[in-house]
Amino acid sequence: MLKKTTIVSLFSIISASYMAQNTTLPVYLDESKSIEQRVQDALSRMTLEEKIAMIHAQSKFSSPGVPRLGIPEFWTTDGPHGVRPEVMWDEWDQAGWTNDSIIAYPALTALSATWNKKMSWNYGKALGEEARYRKKDILLGPGVNIYRTPLNGRNFEYMGEDPYLTSKMVVPYIQGVQSNGVATSVKHFALNNQEMFRHTSNVIIDDRTLHEIYLPPFKAAVTEGDSWTIMGAYDYYKGQIASHNKYLINDILKGKWGYKGVVVSDWGAANNTEQAIHNGLDLEFGSWTNGLSEGNSNAYDSYYLAKPYLKLIKEGKVGTKELDDKVTRVLRLAYKTTMNKNKPFGNIASEEHKAIAKEIGEEGIVLLKNQGNVLPIDINKTKKIAVIGENAIKIMTVGGGSSSLKVKYETLPLDGIKARFGKQSDVQFARGYVGDIGGEYNGVKSGQNLKDDRSPQELLNEAIELAKKSDYVIFVGGLNKADFQDSEGNDRKSYGLPYNQDNVISALAKVNKNLAVVLVSGNAVAMPWLNEVPTIVQAWYLGSEAGNSIASILAGDANPSGKLPFTFPVKLEDNSAHQLGEYPGNKAELAAGKGKDQKNIINIKYNEGILVGYRWHDTKKIKPLFSFGHGLSYTTFEFGKAKADKTTISQDDKITFTVSVKNTGKKAGAEVAQLYISDVKSSVQRPAKELKGFEKVYLNPGEEKEVNFTIDKTALSFYDAEKQDWVAEAGDFEAQIGNSSDSIKTKVKFTLK
Ligand code: BGC
Repeated sequence: MLKKTTIVSLFSIISASYMAQNTTLPVYLDESKSIEQRVQDALSRMTLEEKIAMIHAQSKFSSPGVPRLGIPEFWTTDGPHGVRPEVMWDEWDQAGWTNDSIIAYPALTALSATWNKKMSWNYGKALGEEARYRKKDILLGPGVNIYRTPLNGRNFEYMGEDPYLTSKMVVPYIQGVQSNGVATSVKHFALNNQEMFRHTSNVIIDDRTLHEIYLPPFKAAVTEGDSWTIMGAYDYYKGQIASHNKYLINDILKGKWGYKGVVVSDWGAANNTEQAIHNGLDLEFGSWTNGLSEGNSNAYDSYYLAKPYLKLIKEGKVGTKELDDKVTRVLRLAYKTTMNKNKPFGNIASEEHKAIAKEIGEEGIVLLKNQGNVLPIDINKTKKIAVIGENAIKIMTVGGGSSSLKVKYETLPLDGIKARFGKQSDVQFARGYVGDIGGEYNGVKSGQNLKDDRSPQELLNEAIELAKKSDYVIFVGGLNKADFQDSEGNDRKSYGLPYNQDNVISALAKVNKNLAVVLVSGNAVAMPWLNEVPTIVQAWYLGSEAGNSIASILAGDANPSGKLPFTFPVKLEDNSAHQLGEYPGNKAELAAGKGKDQKNIINIKYNEGILVGYRWHDTKKIKPLFSFGHGLSYTTFEFGKAKADKTTISQDDKITFTVSVKNTGKKAGAEVAQLYISDVKSSVQRPAKELKGFEKVYLNPGEEKEVNFTIDKTALSFYDAEKQDWVAEAGDFEAQIGNSSDSIKTKVKFTLK
């Protein structure tokens, strides 16, 4: 036992050494001080040149800290489906490291299709761990731009057409990543809803639509998710590029929403020093500055927020107030990331990460149609399985633009199917068509040789012969990550499936009734063969575990529970942006050659307003091919009658709806109860209904659970552009609960006072 005197003397030694340390430690390094105190101290020690250096890039993906003060550099990385491989300091080409392979997680469309917030947290945490292990401080993602048109080449990186679903799904992702001391950079703020003309278009949109449809996921990401950074976009709004846009950044993000984090430019999205100074841009990356072409070495000094800014300050043309604000924000970020001593170390490709990738894939796959219960495959009655289609054998993690990855492994659908069924059945493959044989992105090679010189007829004949003698035919097709498909930089050229796939599918349907069409894509596609095919599966891009997730659904090891995060229209013209709005831009301007460069900006008017996706289809009663929220299961569910805990609520009240969901089939499974709110009568146009709650419920056969949804007036409000505020108008509303936007099972009326 220690004597009292010993305790006293021990204490004095510790406190003396603590005090000694404390006095020598500058405040900015002193962990006992608040972050704001440390930030202010660091700021006060920095020279003007150090401050300028800190707010722009020093290489393709990094920005300097303050070397003299020991404040580390920031390393960023794409994002959003896995950690991007290392590129060279000044070039996009590979750095040639051999330790930068990672796990690819399912694309964000697939994550969103799980309608499961837990999956989103798991995703973020695992991905954040990989980013951390790779010593990254800022992950360039997630993407939350709303799905406006099925042609957008980047839809696969986003979370669908609904602001509520996207908002709810993005928050846990952010929290999961940032629990590792790695910042997210939610992107692309804002209105980057197509790739065509992404650098050269100006979006014209009314305020109500902006606030109701396109901004909510960003707002949730910063106000609920606390994303430490946000990435601006390339497009223009009110004539200013989004990355330094007074209206979007100063007025809304940093003004109304009170954002304290860092605004990062998209790569090359700064183009004006004055605007960058005054309109809220904090950290500039990737600029193609005057006289320096893309990819040139050491362009960094000429960045808009580099020497040109320093010059303006030195000439006394601008003060340092804005600069100090930018540096303050960047320093704050440092204390959460690079200077955060409590962050975990991370890991890569752990068994847990593989399991997470596989499970998200399984939960995200959507069973669109299953006539005659072709799926799950009954392995005991199956001798021969034909796998047909290029996407069964094509690596999908290489390509698609900045989200392209270098993976530890990617299980192809054919390999997953062979591994699952190969012991009992004979699994054979025929290609059916040749699509894209490329397999390289910025020097990362898929290693596949997909060259095939056979004619379309020869390929088709082989597929038909194989289908004829098989018990099951699994067609694995869809889109891919080549240019003009699901890929950054360009949009798709048409809504249909490319490469003769429609003909192949129709031909297969004629010779084998047990046909399942598995679509690997991040977008909706036309399905002229819909009525010829009994079973359709939407399988997305699923990353490293793709083949295993798909096989597990085909076998029924996992029961499908994914729901569409966007509407599949029958034809392109049924989509509101194509019917009412402008795409890819104003017709007359398009004809006049606008959009070709930044001096010839093309306008894109979002005439369809708030009627995006199911809001449009439901309101105008345009039947979709498959509706938002749709997805089948191998079991059946029944919804009970919904009840409300009151019939009338006041403006600051809450109301709870309760509904029971029962598994009435023979297999364990999960259903997503979806709450939509409909405003019965309103002084302004409102969509027929809007998603305001969802809950995924896991049920054993015969099991029944109650689901509760509690809402307040925010779920009833519209954005009043004149008041510049949300308004909940008194009157009658209806809560509609079902398992897709076109399958409402039960309704309750209530009144807002
Ligand atoms: C993309 C961003 C990406 C950045 C860095 C840009 O072209 O739009 O999403 O994070 O490049 O690769």
